[in-house]
Amino acid sequence: RRLKPRLTVIGTGYLGATHAICMAVLGYDVLAVDCDRAKVDALAAGTVPFHEPGLPEMLRKALDSGRLRFTTDLAEAGAFGDVHFVCTGTPQVAGSMAADLSQVEGVVRGLAPHLTRPCLVVGKSTVPVGTAARLAELLAGLAPVGAAAELAWNPEFLREGHAIEDTLQPSRLVFGVASETAREWLEAAFRPLLTAGVPCVVTDLATAELVKVAANSFLATKISFINAMAEICESTGADVHELSTALAYDDRIGGRFLKPGLGFGGGCLPKDIRAFIHRAEELGTGESVSFLREVDAINQRRRSRTVDLVREQAGGDLAGVRVCVLGAAFKPHSDDVRDAPALDVARRLHEEGASVVVHDPQAMDNARRTHPELEFADGALEAAAGAAVVALLTEWDQFRGLDPVRLGEVVAGRSVVDARNALDGATWRAAGWTYRALGVA
Ligand code: UDX
Repeated sequence: RRLKPRLTVIGTGYLGATHAICMAVLGYDVLAVDCDRAKVDALAAGTVPFHEPGLPEMLRKALDSGRLRFTTDLAEAGAFGDVHFVCTGTPQVAGSMAADLSQVEGVVRGLAPHLTRPCLVVGKSTVPVGTAARLAELLAGLAPVGAAAELAWNPEFLREGHAIEDTLQPSRLVFGVASETAREWLEAAFRPLLTAGVPCVVTDLATAELVKVAANSFLATKISFINAMAEICESTGADVHELSTALAYDDRIGGRFLKPGLGFGGGCLPKDIRAFIHRAEELGTGESVSFLREVDAINQRRRSRTVDLVREQAGGDLAGVRVCVLGAAFKPHSDDVRDAPALDVARRLHEEGASVVVHDPQAMDNARRTHPELEFADGALEAAAGAAVVALLTEWDQFRGLDPVRLGEVVAGRSVVDARNALDGATWRAAGWTYRALGVA
């Protein structure tokens, strides 16, 4: 076995592109594969097709080193790689809570016939528990070398906006393996991180799959817990932000993911908890995670509450009212609009007849594509011009730094709804604004 296995990374979306680039920078020879020719061409030419701080520089470094190449050809990947990382998406099936496994399965089916020597296929995608065992059988049946092409699972915990540090200095590595050989391959593929002292849990396939969905479920639960407290605060006159601060001093609770507001969105948390509920019900253990339905429901209610606050500020009826929406990305430092709470709220305001103008520092192109019914403006001031209500829905620093006096000069009504607790209410009130926030009466 090679000391430094040759790696392929199949699927060059957010996860795959980051993984391929970082592994090349760590000194591995990497072949990255995607069926999307345009994506492959862009990456090969040094362009990262999504917003991630630091990644374009890392891509150039990887390309300059000569250790990173791109292709659309799975046969080339089969011939090249010792360890193949599968990084394709597992989106929610339309009209169902289930995860769509067709891409992951398609990669295994497409790659297997080209595996002519012992190698390891490693799933990184988030999948329902039991998928890896099924794919292992599929692989053994389709690969010319049979069981000598092994399958392992190595879940990924990277956050958008922190992709590089989460890949190069991860909180932990999880190796789901079915044999000692698979473990040795994975150790060889992650040697620099293991040497640097990154903790590693070696376990079976099912546990490895579960670690990822359990982690995301826990994080979602923390957010919905504090948002449930926000609902109580709103009806009692208490202040959820002060409550959260006080809870966080207890290090058994901890302050991270305890930030109340418009709630979670993005390509992972919402669909992962739904797929988990779906899978548990399939297994007859739905009761064990039925609380996740509540987690999802609390999260959805924050969006309704935000729409209610904007409507209230508009005098009870949104028809014909101009509303400025600040933010479209599901969180700051990202251009990702998948299941973005901000755009969901904007869409609902639009459906109630408001004329909605959106600005986001990074996500405008994506938002225009997914929400053509909305209007967009190139700056916060432009979006606010003539608005009766301003709603801050993604907490970009640019919005935190807005001058309420200057903004007050362009709006039609000085009314702001702060759904992310990003503004200093006292300053805005002093500048003549009606300031409403989530989580306070
Ligand atoms: C998440 C997990 O953190 C990561 O480990 C996993 O690999 C993928 O899913 P990501 O989707 O990039 O990462 O976003 P994250 O930073 O976790 O935020 C998720 C959502 O929760 C965002 O919409 C954010 O605004 C929201 N959030 C986060 C809160 O509402 N309150 C908080 O306290 C923290």
